[in-house]
Amino acid sequence: MLSNRAKALSPSITLGISARVKTMKAEGIPVINLSIGEPDFVTPDCAKAGGTYAIENDVTKYDAASGNLGLRQEICRKLKDENGLDYTPEQIVVSSGAKHSITNAVMATVNDGEEVIIPVPYWVSYPEIVELLGAKAVLVQTKKDNGFLLTVEDVKDHISDKTRMVILTNPSNPTGNAFTRDQLQELCQFLVDHNILILSDEIYERIVYDEPFTSVAALSDEIKEKTIVVNGLSKSASMTGWRIGYTASTVQIAKAMGSIQSHLTSHPSTVSMQAAKYALRDCGDAIEHMRQTYQKRRDFIVDFFEKELPQLSIVPPKGAFYVFADMSVLRDKLTAESLSMKVCEDMLDREVAFVPGIGFGADDFIRISYAASMDDIKEGLQRLKAYVEETLR
Ligand SMILES: Cc1ncc(COP(=O)(O)O)c(C=O)c1O
Repeated sequence: MLSNRAKALSPSITLGISARVKTMKAEGIPVINLSIGEPDFVTPDCAKAGGTYAIENDVTKYDAASGNLGLRQEICRKLKDENGLDYTPEQIVVSSGAKHSITNAVMATVNDGEEVIIPVPYWVSYPEIVELLGAKAVLVQTKKDNGFLLTVEDVKDHISDKTRMVILTNPSNPTGNAFTRDQLQELCQFLVDHNILILSDEIYERIVYDEPFTSVAALSDEIKEKTIVVNGLSKSASMTGWRIGYTASTVQIAKAMGSIQSHLTSHPSTVSMQAAKYALRDCGDAIEHMRQTYQKRRDFIVDFFEKELPQLSIVPPKGAFYVFADMSVLRDKLTAESLSMKVCEDMLDREVAFVPGIGFGADDFIRISYAASMDDIKEGLQRLKAYVEETLR
């Protein structure tokens, strides 16, 4: 009954964990959920006001396939003011979440059988999207020693005459690490010199802690020409359910994406687009407040690992709301096919949920989300500490 395409899809490990947490909660088990991939804040009122406005003023009919013009103008203003980038509204395509933007971008630029390089560890959906669209996902291992940031050295042996695109995530889900401007410059210049497109997923751009964020497209005009910037409101403005993502690219690519979208979904919900416009225009303070809250949690966690759990090393978290913790010290003590699944299952027995790194291609690691209250973070980490100490005893 099913197509080969559908049969080839792997179930999402992150959604699998969420389903187990939901079942445990429904059974009355007070599980501490540090597996979440979405902000723990409600959508700010300044954004909700846009949705209310759309409903009350009948902004509820078909709009432009590439997305509402007013919203695309607001995105251009944001890209100019915050990232120093010059784009016109015809270079912007608004889609139903960043995931949908990535799908449209790959569909518009990559042919059947062409290769897309995806650094490992990766966000779970990249390989699935690429393969679903008939292209080949080439998984390239990065090194723990430099925080899993892709380098020219990592990538150069994986380039072939079929390589069409490289996907970069900055800051990264799952590692929480972020590139410096110099690291990005070196890597992206190399890719452009090899005529490779860059899909730069910048969805966590507003959640950075140590260094100012640099968009790949801001590196040079030459790099900008070869880059599709992906961004959205899900993480920065806590609008996951509104489903708004967008891309900035050349006019040629944007037109192709708009055309694809016109046949598949027409455009995202007009109510959500209005809310996104208000979010970009009015929610700067609310977004900054959330960032500062994540930063306090990040600082607490880094301190906790340093002082309370020195047995485990973590990737230095510079952005997003994840900490990637290396569990390999437990490998000799635990017999299991997958170390990260075993650790996460044991921790679920202790009523704390993390995501096993195997889902991101890194089985030595678990992903700890701090999109959760400080009380939950403290209790969850105490239980992890007890588990690690007992296992190592
Ligand atoms: C790196 C990355 N890109 C894209 C997305 C998808 O964002 P959206 O919910 O806007 O589709 C996520 C969500 O988890 C993500 O972590």
